[in-house]
Amino acid sequence: MLSREENELLTRTGPGVPMGELFRRYWLPALLSEELPAADGPPIRVRLLGEDLVAFRDSVGRVGLVEAHCAHRGASLFFGRNEESGIRCVYHGWKYNVDGQCVDMPNEPPESTFKEKIRLTAYPTREAGGVIWAYLGPPNEMSELPQLEWTRVPSSHRYVHKRRQACNYLQNVEGEVDSAHVSFLHRQFNPGQLGRMARGQALLGQATDRAPVFVVNETEYGLRISARRTWNDETHYWRITQFLMPSYTMIPAEPVFPISFTAAIPLDDENLWGYTVAWHPDRPLTEAEVATIESWTGIYAEVVPGSYGTVATKANDYLVDRQRQRTESFTGIRGIREQDLAVQEDQWGPICDRTREHLGTTDAAVIAVRHRLLRAVRDAQRGQGPVEAYRGEAYRVRSAAFLLPQSTPIDDGARSALVASV
Ligand code: FES
Ligand SMILES: [Fe+2]
Repeated sequence: MLSREENELLTRTGPGVPMGELFRRYWLPALLSEELPAADGPPIRVRLLGEDLVAFRDSVGRVGLVEAHCAHRGASLFFGRNEESGIRCVYHGWKYNVDGQCVDMPNEPPESTFKEKIRLTAYPTREAGGVIWAYLGPPNEMSELPQLEWTRVPSSHRYVHKRRQACNYLQNVEGEVDSAHVSFLHRQFNPGQLGRMARGQALLGQATDRAPVFVVNETEYGLRISARRTWNDETHYWRITQFLMPSYTMIPAEPVFPISFTAAIPLDDENLWGYTVAWHPDRPLTEAEVATIESWTGIYAEVVPGSYGTVATKANDYLVDRQRQRTESFTGIRGIREQDLAVQEDQWGPICDRTREHLGTTDAAVIAVRHRLLRAVRDAQRGQGPVEAYRGEAYRVRSAAFLLPQSTPIDDGARSALVASV
């Protein structure tokens, strides 16, 4: 349970509010590289942290991310002409480069220097891992790109996916670190039907212990969340989830299976961009693996082209099938991601009212993430940190799941499994 003030502090991410300012100190995934496939291609709308922006790829391939409206009289630059290294407003022809600088003003006399005084808000971008990252913070405090392993492997080794989700970012983060829900929300009654979604989670499917014990460790990048289930008299089954500031998680897969990363990036306070990545550190993903991964990212949902939304939504009750709920699965909803959406998009609404909760022992990870974020936002309000945003190498970690003799300390058993190789 949180106080009303704490809940507000954690969930509000627009410009000028404390958590919004904290998010802006990190490089954040802003869109997929595939959304801007070609130089001088069509500009697209981007909404991020409550700000309306337009993104375009200029003639030499640089990505501009600028405020959505023209500085002249506010026309939408989404309709702009992306030509000759700049975006030109279609109303009166003012043109801006990727830095937001006005470079042409064809409706003014040629000798005018007015254009030199006109600049749009523009945010720096970088491309890594098939993602266009943006820094929306103060220019003189620019941080470092996180050195996440999946951004450093060849593109054949990773699968990157994006979706739009209709709730506050924190509900999604809490779901990702909440290892206990997997045994319920995502349960299939007939293990033979687990099929694609179970690959990489075979041990979890067999685990009978549904009340994991959580051990949470503070780390430089965020938190290491270890969930321990009793496997048999001598063995524990460990699932180690990483929480990385400000809103990233790495979900464990068993050895030889691809590793998973998720990001919950506020689009605004009631919507998020959810990024899902799976990668193999040292070999390309196979077709079968991509099929497996897609079952985690909404393949059942027929993505509406261009919107990154799903067909199963709150408005159609996520296409819940009550017959299937009796016979096949705990929810009767198809698809892991859709099951998550059904519970996350309405937890007393799109912004969960955490003053009403009754947290139990398996909510330890959720509580720990909130405390980590509250501490970070309060530190930032006092002018301290966030230190990890300036240490990209701190993000070179992995998640892992494995069996370990009960006599082996988790720190020994986990050491090599949690370090990125590139
Ligand atoms: S409104 Fe954009 S050039 Fe006039
Ligand atoms: Fe889930």
